[in-house]
Amino acid sequence: MSLVKTLRSTFINRFHQKPLLVRSPGRVNIIGEHTDYNEGFVLPAAIDKAAYLAVSLREDDEIHLVALDLNDTYSVRLSDLKPVVDVNWPNYILGSVAQFAKRGIPLRGFNAVLTSEVPIGAGLSSSAAVECATVFALNELLQARIERLAMVRMAQKAEHEYAGVMCGIMDQFASMMGKKDHVMKLDCRSLEYEYIPFRLEGIKVLLLNTHVKHSLASSEYNARRKECETAVAWVREHVQEVNSLRDVTEEMLDKFVITRDQLIDKRSRFVVQEIERLKVACKDLQDGDLISLGKKMFATHDGLSKMYEVSCKELDWLVDQVRNHEAVIGSRMMGGGFGGCTINLVKEDAVEELVATLKPAYEKEMNLPLTHYVASIENGTELIQS
Ligand code: GLA
Repeated sequence: MSLVKTLRSTFINRFHQKPLLVRSPGRVNIIGEHTDYNEGFVLPAAIDKAAYLAVSLREDDEIHLVALDLNDTYSVRLSDLKPVVDVNWPNYILGSVAQFAKRGIPLRGFNAVLTSEVPIGAGLSSSAAVECATVFALNELLQARIERLAMVRMAQKAEHEYAGVMCGIMDQFASMMGKKDHVMKLDCRSLEYEYIPFRLEGIKVLLLNTHVKHSLASSEYNARRKECETAVAWVREHVQEVNSLRDVTEEMLDKFVITRDQLIDKRSRFVVQEIERLKVACKDLQDGDLISLGKKMFATHDGLSKMYEVSCKELDWLVDQVRNHEAVIGSRMMGGGFGGCTINLVKEDAVEELVATLKPAYEKEMNLPLTHYVASIENGTELIQS
């Protein structure tokens, strides 16, 4: 039985109601990492792996949740809404519910069943997918008429307030706003965005999952954010117009940051370089110069690994293995870091052989499984036929 059929029948058997069904995808990001919360640019796209949520309203004020894949349930009254401490998954849903309350939208109790194909901890934004699905579904059911961009913000706030990760806007934006066969160039300061066609003749987006769970991710992520803010504060002591690393140049870092602290300099310099790198990479993509784009992906990886220090040995190993491979156009770690996937642009006819070579070598070297998947670029959050 297909995923959606199982979801629907589980819902009906359990709650005896007909649900609204929502699909909300995971994402990839071609380039522009750790730039979103520094008001820079990102270049993400929604993918064909998604979270699916079946939802219907109740007459009372109770929320009943089922996580199909985890075989777990959680229930709470609307009046007791707060972050859950011992398990994480309800937080993505409850955090999203809380945003409606904060906007003064009258809430109702509801039933929901969740299932997802987005692997957890793989850097493909499984949590953003659930948050976007929840906000989207409740917006429909409560007839709240909230615009998509505002829903993106609500989903991001759910992550901040209930999951405790001070993430930027990229993941929720990509999940909610994705468009088939397009990447999105998003200005994370103004939230202006542009869809850029991404149909690369004979080239595939290959994701290689290290199976390293990014357990450090949330604490280190929040720490990186603080380091960036420190650099901005130091520059602002001299240049008042500076509000974020988006406004900072390498010359400013030379003058006001490296002299004070090498680590803060390294972190912020990566971000300043990455914001510039993305702009040129977008031009490469529009000009069809994939070789140049690919080189920038490798450069991004090196910066993330050596300057921003959010990689790990498994990610570095995978990127190094393909660095001089004739069929690999670009490769880098993707997302927050400390585990998860590498994203690789690979010539189509070489994918199978590449994976067949890498898999046993990785498994021997790292004593971990290596899984792969070829991502296609799909639409963002949407209703599906029930
Ligand atoms: C995580 C966050 C995003 C972004 C990336 C790094 O995925 O959720 O907001 O900061 O890391 O680019």
